[in-house]
Amino acid sequence: MDEELIYATLGEAGFAELTRVFYAGVREDDLIGPMYPEGDWAGAEERLRDFLLFRFGADQRYLEKRGHPRLRGRHLPFKIGVAERDRWVQLMGAAADEVIADPGIRASIMQFFSQVADFLRNQPEDAEQSTSPCPHA
Ligand code: HEM
Repeated sequence: MDEELIYATLGEAGFAELTRVFYAGVREDDLIGPMYPEGDWAGAEERLRDFLLFRFGADQRYLEKRGHPRLRGRHLPFKIGVAERDRWVQLMGAAADEVIADPGIRASIMQFFSQVADFLRNQPEDAEQSTSPCPHA
């Protein structure tokens, strides 16, 4: 995956739009929507956006506000099985279809999202889980 190319193509505005459209879908979702903090959709959007700017563009805002991402630990309070993983990836895929015009960039970033989403599973069915695909997770 070419992080620099993805960052150069999307820019900060592209990542902001991707997370905005994604969370608009999550909010309405019956399965994963209820997991998110009811009164803090803007905060959730900002955390994911900042994380992506950090992961793809080495932007420091996420680290300054939240410290090391330790994504697996931060997701342990939520029940994430295959169904939740697939729904998250499906909603992100819909957002990417809407926001990212370049099919190659879309495929690369969706591969990244799919790998991290799988790594975040924390239910018993994750017996065959592999190691982190994301050095910051
Ligand atoms: C597998 C399905 C997933 C579910 C059900 C899920 C659910 C959640 C929930 C409920 C939160 C708390 C919202 C908040 O207050 O920020 C959260 C936070 C977050 N998620 Fe996920 N997530 C999933 C996958 C992912 C993936 C694939 C990524 C990144 C590629 C990701 C990145 C983040 C980040 C950066 C935060 C904020 C962490 C923090 O600083 O507190 N999540 N997620």
